[in-house]
Amino acid sequence: MHAATPIVLFVLSSLASGIRAQDPPASNPLDDDGEPMKLYAVQCSPCHGERGRGDGPAGRFLDPAPRDFTKDQFRLVSTKNGKPSDKDLIEAISAGIPGTAMLPFAHLGPQKVRQLIDVVRAFQRKGLRETLAPHAADEKELEEWVRHDSTPGGTIFPSPAPPDTVDSRARGRLHYQTLCAQCHGPDGRGTIMPRLPDSKDPPVKARDITQGVMKGGIEGKNFFHRIRCGMPGTPMPSVMKGVLGDDGVWDIVHYLNALMPAGAQALHSPQGWRIFVPKIEGELPTQAADERFQKAQAVHIALAPFRADEYTIRGVAVQAVHDGVHVIFRIQYADATSDVPSKQHRLPPDGFAVRVTKYRQPPVLPIPGLPLPLDRAIWLAGAMPPGEDPVFDHVKPRFVNPDRVCISPIGPEHVGSGKFRDRTWTLVMPVKPERAGAIVSGETMGVSFSVFDGSLRRGPLPVSFSTWQTLVFE
Ligand code: HEC
Ligand code: HEC
Repeated sequence: MHAATPIVLFVLSSLASGIRAQDPPASNPLDDDGEPMKLYAVQCSPCHGERGRGDGPAGRFLDPAPRDFTKDQFRLVSTKNGKPSDKDLIEAISAGIPGTAMLPFAHLGPQKVRQLIDVVRAFQRKGLRETLAPHAADEKELEEWVRHDSTPGGTIFPSPAPPDTVDSRARGRLHYQTLCAQCHGPDGRGTIMPRLPDSKDPPVKARDITQGVMKGGIEGKNFFHRIRCGMPGTPMPSVMKGVLGDDGVWDIVHYLNALMPAGAQALHSPQGWRIFVPKIEGELPTQAADERFQKAQAVHIALAPFRADEYTIRGVAVQAVHDGVHVIFRIQYADATSDVPSKQHRLPPDGFAVRVTKYRQPPVLPIPGLPLPLDRAIWLAGAMPPGEDPVFDHVKPRFVNPDRVCISPIGPEHVGSGKFRDRTWTLVMPVKPERAGAIVSGETMGVSFSVFDGSLRRGPLPVSFSTWQTLVFE
């Protein structure tokens, strides 16, 4: 097995040297000592697993589950045979998959994304070899089969879009009722759970079009490809030219556009922002109403869910100021219920975690056993005496998965205060970066957030989390 040690060594050595510029690609992308695999181990393995089987330490808590590159099909495809082109994979990895835990990785830069595609494809070929080997007559036939099953066909190019008119939408509605409504529902709300024949996997729910959040993007060409190519590995079928011509596909696209609320996709697409952090003078602010927070611009940060059916908290508004020693966050987010434990009700509380680091391009989720130089602060609704705390007993978190995800190597540090009003939490959380290094004016630090919703009874498992944001210190 691939042990954690090489990852640790990699991180420590890249810390010492700073991340190096591009090395030439290694000949075997699955070589543990090669750049692509080291990158994969830090960025992707927490979810997709060390060997690409979708079994990373965080993988089993996610729904949808991370793709098993060795056996699952790829869903976001634009080709004639339903195998992803390089461009399809680049888009999925760079833009992420909105509404799921698959965050965008465009910040790694195009060269690293390309290295990761080599790794993903190598896992896929390895899986195909394993599956097909018992049936092939010889190595040559096996190679031939593997190549056939992993090589993308030609790209389907959408015809030019006809104008989006009332008539086109009306025609689209008719096509939709015939071809799509049996799964997506007559009104697009996607309440139906079609099952793939013979599939042991849990059913994939047909998308609620009216929520306006699409895994593969909301441009016309994205929909065109979803309709023409389907979403392999799910019941979402492809619609062949013989069934519906290109203009008919565009009519449906225009009808789908009319069903979707404007702006929903952008609001639910996690990405990294720059958060400007002004300097303040005087005492550490403890009240959200402290007027010194007015110097700081609020940034809306979209959060990715752990479980799509428990996506209760989808975004936070963040402001930050600093006093030279602490970064003080003012956080606001909507939450339907306030969950505050008491001695009588020892339930998991609402909570919020902040991680700051100077490490460049850190992994999005903690890697067990990998001590990153970061500082973590946690706010939990209500304060319980040590030993009575329903989530942390100051040794290890209780409730789900006590021993793998979410144990910070530095232990939970409770800070901050929160007020619940009008179904909104407003928090003030001071964080003193120590492991991350000092605050230096003009310099930056990475910050990421995760939210815990007590009403889901999931203890230290977040309901949703952000990708890394950049703090820019005044
Ligand atoms: C926090 C968890 C997480 C991390 C980290 C993560 N992924 Fe994913 N990834 C997912 C999930 C979940 C899905 C499945 C989404 C779905 O089924 O809709 C997915 C799907 C994918 C897909 C499938 C796209 C398709 O068309 O079906 C690819 C490719 C992929 N990830 C590559 C990567 C790479 C490369 C990395 C590292 C840079 C990475 N992922 C990191 C959770 C993650
Ligand atoms: C047999 C059931 C079924 C039929 C018929 C069907 N779909 Fe789907 N569709 C699904 C499922 C299941 C998903 C969710 C796949 C996923 O989340 O990975 C989906 C997803 C989608 C999405 C989301 C794409 C994205 O990027 O997230 C769109 C748009 C869509 N379907 C449109 C259509 C249209 C238009 C038709 C008719 C031409 C259609 N579907 C017919 C089952 C179906």
